Amino acid sequence: MTTKVLMVCLGNICRSPIAEGIMRKLTNDQDFIIDSAGTANYHIGTAPDYRSIAIAALHDIDISGQKARQLTPADIDAFDHILVMDEENLSNAIAMCASEKHRDKISLITAASEVDTPYIPDPYYGEDDGFARVYELLHDCCKSWLKKYTK
Ligand code: 4NP
Repeated sequence: MTTKVLMVCLGNICRSPIAEGIMRKLTNDQDFIIDSAGTANYHIGTAPDYRSIAIAALHDIDISGQKARQLTPADIDAFDHILVMDEENLSNAIAMCASEKHRDKISLITAASEVDTPYIPDPYYGEDDGFARVYELLHDCCKSWLKKYTK
């Protein structure tokens, strides 16, 4: 059976594109369908931020072909798991839920891991090294999530 996982952040240009790229690589795109979206409409149709593309490329992951899109209620119905980056994404996604079943699909991506932060910090307005930290956190979180999920 195919499991559908959606990575969600605010703009869908910094954090969730990296998370999508990492998860695709970890799963070899097998048995899983991985996608990403943002709760905001600021960057619809644009490629990931150049700093996200660069940090992913440093780890042999090409995310340059991704295009930002906005999260919809239909996504929450269609995907099995919605993994969000922070509390703001969490409350925005929960606000779109039509039922308890939908609500139960949504969790913070950090929840399955033992990383030392409760959420993935937004690197957009920060220094470039924020993207390296985001990459490491997301790599850890994705590995932990898969380990728990496939156990
Ligand atoms: P993301 O980062 O949610 O990780 O994609 C952001 C991207 C853009 C903006 C904020 C956060 N923005 O305000 O345009």
